[in-house]
Amino acid sequence: MKKRKLFIAGNWKMNKTSSEAEKILVELKSKLSPYIGKLNIAVCPAFTALETAVRVLHGSNIKLGSQDVSAKESGAYTGEVSAKMLLDTGVTYAIVGHSERRQYHNETDALVNEKTKMALKSGLLPIVCIGETLHERENGKTYDIITTQFRGSLNGLTSEEMIKTTIAYEPVWAIGTGKTASKEQAQEVHALIRKLLTDAYGSETAEKVIIQYGGSVKPENSAELMAQQDIDGALVGGASLDSEVFTNLIANAIN
Ligand code: PGA
Repeated sequence: MKKRKLFIAGNWKMNKTSSEAEKILVELKSKLSPYIGKLNIAVCPAFTALETAVRVLHGSNIKLGSQDVSAKESGAYTGEVSAKMLLDTGVTYAIVGHSERRQYHNETDALVNEKTKMALKSGLLPIVCIGETLHERENGKTYDIITTQFRGSLNGLTSEEMIKTTIAYEPVWAIGTGKTASKEQAQEVHALIRKLLTDAYGSETAEKVIIQYGGSVKPENSAELMAQQDIDGALVGGASLDSEVFTNLIANAIN
């Protein structure tokens, strides 16, 4: 029996216009209704589809997340979207420090930490991503990288803030590649993250934090991954873009 309620979030990345979002969300609203309540579910569309998503999902209990949030409160930061704007739109979560932002936009642990703190201060719930590359794994660096990213990205959070934060362990080599970490590989890193949490905050807090796994989660592997002791949910990319596939992934995960 899981100690923590599963939390599965779909990260649509740079996919779906507002009208495409509307179509899939209408489907998800009805297909996911039997599962809502048994777990927490969120979808993270592009900024441009958020308003449509708020309207379509009204009354459904499927929550919304953004894929990023600015570290700044407001002002002359062209192209940025603030936490306050997101909250005002009806967003609950913000993905922070996804590996694609770290890789293509040079986001550092320090910036991820600023964004995480800004989200929390404003009332958004951050989903903070950490994970090693294939090169780092093959060189036996996984533990060091996870420890460094954990400490850097989550630096200075209070226990209360830590409990509001979801950590997503996403091995970079498993994202969008079809290669999933085995349940043992994933559980091993999740246990390390739980230990880092315990060392920093004590076990009472550590036991409350949701740690998602991300990287080619699909209906075929969601059950075995979610059955692991320290895996409390999933951050899903490709398999969240189709309502049937995402629903099956969720159905398998909770059974
Ligand atoms: P994927 O993406 O499920 O397509 O591998 C996961 C993610 O990047 O969050």
